[in-house]
Amino acid sequence: MEIFRNYELFGWKKLNYNDEFRSIRLENKICVITGGTRGIGIETVRYLLKKNISKIITGSSQLNIDSNDDDEIENFKHKLLSKSGLKPYEDRLIILPLDLGSMDSVEKFADTICKMESKIDYLVS
Ligand SMILES: NC(=O)c1ccc[n+]([C@@H]2O[C@H](COP(=O)([O-])OP(=O)(O)OC[C@H]3O[C@@H](n4cnc5c(N)ncnc54)[C@H](OP(=O)(O)O)[C@@H]3O)[C@@H](O)[C@H]2O)c1
Repeated sequence: MEIFRNYELFGWKKLNYNDEFRSIRLENKICVITGGTRGIGIETVRYLLKKNISKIITGSSQLNIDSNDDDEIENFKHKLLSKSGLKPYEDRLIILPLDLGSMDSVEKFADTICKMESKIDYLVS
């Protein structure tokens, strides 16, 4: 598991919330956020969407990881957007099943993202 902590191996750079980060333009950027459905995670989602990020992909353990039921995901997303006030940004937010306690689920989440996108600009985890 050590490799996941050594993000520098992938040429990734750790960003702190400072002037450098605040000045970054997020149009055309794609971000993956784990835990983006509640608490500090959804506030990060809100901030990045308001900063015009092109797309955010997040996951939820409340979705059945073994099902590919698009209706379940759409219903969950609809409820989340309604109660969080993020409905205006619905086109830029993708929610997938993710249980961080299951390596199978993490791999499936990563595989789905790899099929959707050729690159990820930011990982918030
Ligand atoms: N709040 C703070 O002030 C603060 C300060 C410093 C550090 N932290 C740390 O930041 C993290 C989030 O804190 P929070 O207060 O925002 O917590 P929270 O409100 O409980 O949110 C937890 C998030 O994690 C997701 N999650 C829970 N279990 C999961 C699983 N098995 N697989 C995938 N996602 C899962 C939840 O989504 P689903 O339920 O949809 O899966 C939710 O989006 C914690 O690790 C906390 O220790 C928080």
